[in-house]
Amino acid sequence: MANKFYITTPIFYVNDLLHIGHAYCTIACDVVARFRRLLGDEVLFLTGTDEHGQKIAQAASLKGKTPLEWADYIVSQDKKLWEKLNISHDDFIRTTEDRHERTVQAIFTKLYQKGVIYKGEYEGWYCTSCETFYLEGQLDEGKCPECGKVAEKLKEESYFFRLSKYQNRLLNYFAENPEFMQPSFRKAEMVNFVKEGLKDLSVSRTAVKWGIPVPFDEKHTVYVWFDALTNYLTASGYLDDKVKFSKFWPADVHLVGKEIFKFHTIIWPAILMALEIPLPKKVFGHGWWTVEGKKMSKSRGNVVDPVEVSEEFGVDAFRYFLMREVPFGQDGDFSKKALIRRYNADLANNLGNLLSRTLTMVEKYLQGKVPEPGRDKKEGRELIQKVKGLSEKMVRYYDKLELNNVLGAIWEVIDYANRYIEKTSPWKLEKTDRKRLETVLYNLLETLRIVALYILPFMPRTAERIWERLGMKEKIYNQKIKQAEWGRLKSGIRIKTGKPLFPRIKD
Ligand code: MSP
Repeated sequence: MANKFYITTPIFYVNDLLHIGHAYCTIACDVVARFRRLLGDEVLFLTGTDEHGQKIAQAASLKGKTPLEWADYIVSQDKKLWEKLNISHDDFIRTTEDRHERTVQAIFTKLYQKGVIYKGEYEGWYCTSCETFYLEGQLDEGKCPECGKVAEKLKEESYFFRLSKYQNRLLNYFAENPEFMQPSFRKAEMVNFVKEGLKDLSVSRTAVKWGIPVPFDEKHTVYVWFDALTNYLTASGYLDDKVKFSKFWPADVHLVGKEIFKFHTIIWPAILMALEIPLPKKVFGHGWWTVEGKKMSKSRGNVVDPVEVSEEFGVDAFRYFLMREVPFGQDGDFSKKALIRRYNADLANNLGNLLSRTLTMVEKYLQGKVPEPGRDKKEGRELIQKVKGLSEKMVRYYDKLELNNVLGAIWEVIDYANRYIEKTSPWKLEKTDRKRLETVLYNLLETLRIVALYILPFMPRTAERIWERLGMKEKIYNQKIKQAEWGRLKSGIRIKTGKPLFPRIKD
């Protein structure tokens, strides 16, 4: 029976259009989801939008729209972006959907009935921009410690979630499940935070009208983070589809940015413990992108639009750059210069060149037909060994979400294959050793076929184009990882030469 695999992006706020930071997270999820499909898993890949709260209401009113009108517009743009970037999500959840509102209300009521949510009074400071409560001592001269905007003082009746009760259970869970938080360098901060003592969390607001009503006390709306986190349960069928839920829950990975790691590793697990539901297997906190060394922000005017970049350089080059440039988990810096450098070095000179050189030689020396291989010399055996070694490396790197290393390993092979051409000089073999010429070209074609399968999760369109050039008839999207075994390329197939996949870009 197929394994299941449930992976999620954060749900994105609808106050504004998305930028490369959001695209980064979603592309990373897409890569993992596509790899798991290649393995044969039944995948549920979820993304969506976080639509309630003061921040959204304010953004909408500035545009003279109702919150829902504004959200509809942003959602349509988000969906267009995901289509453009070739994101293969299985579901798109909006927190304004009926299925979600019912789930949130059911959970809120259940926890209230259990006494895990209780009514009290809230006094503190609220940052609308981050939708986060702070205590006086956490503020930075009256300003939000995260975004630096002025926080508002609040005193109001509120429902509280007994987060304090889960301190020990959380610490035990962290100790017993060392893989839960990744990368591991993010763990110590979370453990310390819990050790310092957890305060009960305010989970409703009377001042915020744009939210899901607390079902048994309608002057309150549910706190946006409580509402938002629950999306992962809604979409896996918690309330409406027991079969789906028992198949997909617990989530295999919640992939989130580092700034919301805490919500996913402390608050969310505590809510799930209160509901007596298993915890997600892994929460991965990725790093942040700066742009030419500076934080991206509207006021600086340096927000990078993923549509623009992918139109200029191609969707796959954009996806490749984001996944390759920084170790997944670390922060990175975006610049067109760095993108062009990588594009030329890795895509034009390395992968693109390997493909065009190989196909040109097959066309010229073998009338465009895949030859029958013979036994090769040392270099050829080494190439085959390297290609065969990929499969084990892939599984190991994907498992730890070291996505840049996945690409690093594939590119080592591509690089070696280019050197193999130099070492064997097929243009000389044509006259001297025809059988070896055939063997060398077979090895190159077979390397390219397998490389196409391995880059499919990162660069779907490129993989498809390579596949077609190699004369493969079946769709690459229907292939499973078994096809990456060496030697499956059949002789006699007609290849197709064509324009370079990645024409060099002038600096
Ligand atoms: N709505 C909440 C998440 C709720 S999840 C239950 C939220 N939304 S957001 O629109 O602000 O998107 C947050 C995500 O955007 C981060 O987790 C991160 O993935 C991504 N990023 C936003 N800016 C970023 C960078 N500059 N760099 C990389 N990713 C960043 O928080």
